[in-house]
Amino acid sequence: MDITILGIESSCDDTSIAIVQNRKILANVTANQKIHAEYGGVVPELASRAHQQNIIPSLDTALKRAGLELKDLDAIAFTAGPGLLGSLLVGTSLAKSLSLSLDLPLIQVNHMRAHILAHMIENDQQNTPEFPFLCLTVSGGHTQIVEVKSAQEMNLLGSTIDDAAGEAFDKAGKIMGLAYPAGPEIDRRAKLGDAHKFSFAKPKMPDLQFSFSGLKTSILYFLQKEMQKNPKFIEENLNDLCASIQKTIIDILMDKLKLASTQTGINRIAIAGGVSANSGLREALHFEAARSPWEVFIPSFEYTTDNGAMIAISGYYQYLENDFTDLGVVASARKPLQS
Ligand code: KG4
Ligand code: ZN
Repeated sequence: MDITILGIESSCDDTSIAIVQNRKILANVTANQKIHAEYGGVVPELASRAHQQNIIPSLDTALKRAGLELKDLDAIAFTAGPGLLGSLLVGTSLAKSLSLSLDLPLIQVNHMRAHILAHMIENDQQNTPEFPFLCLTVSGGHTQIVEVKSAQEMNLLGSTIDDAAGEAFDKAGKIMGLAYPAGPEIDRRAKLGDAHKFSFAKPKMPDLQFSFSGLKTSILYFLQKEMQKNPKFIEENLNDLCASIQKTIIDILMDKLKLASTQTGINRIAIAGGVSANSGLREALHFEAARSPWEVFIPSFEYTTDNGAMIAISGYYQYLENDFTDLGVVASARKPLQS
């Protein structure tokens, strides 16, 4: 029997609605919010207002693209956290009203687990990973290495003690005068620059822990010093700076990923989250796969940044386990990976 799930994602600044049938995506409609670029970061109040404007049109478009009606759905899955509370409430309210009015089961999805399960979406280009695999989840809010034993059982091996990897890209970009989010622009410029021109110290963190705030400070001090000598330093070296900063971040991520693989003996390696769109990181993984037993899994671009498809596919796995919730469920800004 086919199982059709609606997935609603509204945890940060993208409103996204998707429909899956089993593990196949029928529609994945995302409305991005451009408004935050003017402010150099996501403004929570503006984000929730934009979600309210975008969410119903996104739902209509998703149903149209899938060629379905609300009555064809089997369950409603939504992001219950972690994320911005005001934003989460918009998706949660829609999910609850659909569940109540259509009398459909409600499924609460953990955003970070969903980033990982995006790998299980049926895909023509690449095989889906077998369990267990390791997943490096790198986004604007999180940096985690997770041992994925099954769709249900995930073990957090390490995470950041301060900034996330995406935040490191965004904050470095902000120091250099790039618009938010700076990750994609640094990625683009890095391809045109020399990654060995400047070097930034990597943090010495034990085990599988990450730290990125020191890198931001060392970039800030380095640029302040250089700009005193030459006020055009950033402008004249922008591509090389982007390439060097990107290389430092990727080296930090790759070192820990290699350590996690050695410690667990797991060679199936996946990446997820907004930063997994980074072409330098993708290249580094392919390079490693070519000279080691690693088999790497890289999500297609549309499933790297926040998307409803990952919520819908998570909903599908939870549906199989009868993992439903009642209308009293509340969204939470903080939500551990295990919940
Ligand atoms: O997963 P995501 O869409 O939202 C969060 O849950 O945070 O990730 C957004 C983050 C931002 O920090 C953005 O700068 C970063 O992903 N990002 C990138 C690239 N594309 C998005 N970072 C580096 N290179 C990219 N190509
Ligand atoms: Zn995310």
